[in-house]
Amino acid sequence: MMTTRFLTRCALTIAMLAPMGIAADAARADTAMSRISGDPDNPRRHFRLRHPAEASPAELERLYVIVRDALARAYDAAGIEVVAEYQEWTRFNRIPYLSKVHGNHYLNNYGNELAGSYADYPHGLDMPEGAILAKDSFSITESGEILLGPLAVMIKMAPGFNPVSGDWRFLQIQPNGVTLGETNGRNSERVDYCIGCHMMKASSDHLFHIPADAR
Ligand code: HEC
Repeated sequence: MMTTRFLTRCALTIAMLAPMGIAADAARADTAMSRISGDPDNPRRHFRLRHPAEASPAELERLYVIVRDALARAYDAAGIEVVAEYQEWTRFNRIPYLSKVHGNHYLNNYGNELAGSYADYPHGLDMPEGAILAKDSFSITESGEILLGPLAVMIKMAPGFNPVSGDWRFLQIQPNGVTLGETNGRNSERVDYCIGCHMMKASSDHLFHIPADAR
């Protein structure tokens, strides 16, 4: 099963980080992810951690600093050039924030230079072609294990690329370096569920933005 396979890999990655102070015990089993609904090749929502642990903002930031490099390496394996440097971009949130709709992971939200007006929310949300937003993620389980999560990406393409998604290409890189799918590219149908939910925000260029207390 795909889920099991990527969790095992992540547990291994984190085990390598253990000397840096991350509790990692792959044998403890509160890492259960809920099963995806429907067809695994055509998910209706994100894999979701059943019992995410809570942590203080300072602790979350400390953990993020520790796992950041591991995340970059994991996503690099997918070979998607345009997001290779995402951690050098503007980070729009102050602290990682828990997202129920994005898998119960803690998220960080980055944008490239062309996506600069994302910071001016609720203004300036009409992104130019070439704007890219990328959200990395990690989870903490109740036993203190950290799991690497996916990188969710939106790339603004040329007008007419895909009107239903506001001409955004949605793509997601799994923490095992496999691309789940990309709009109008490989396995496009696997990221249709992204388009469906983001359509709720069609009036603000399909963007939800960051919860106020994490900005
Ligand atoms: C059930 C609704 C839902 C689905 C499905 C969903 N998203 Fe989101 N997305 C959100 C919400 C809400 C936010 C803002 C808050 C947050 O991050 O949780 C967001 C934020 C984002 C952002 C930051 C830009 C913004 O909107 O402010 C990106 C990038 C993103 N999502 C990519 C994706 C990708 C890629 C997928 C599919 C693999 C996806 N999303 C699926 C609800 C959803």
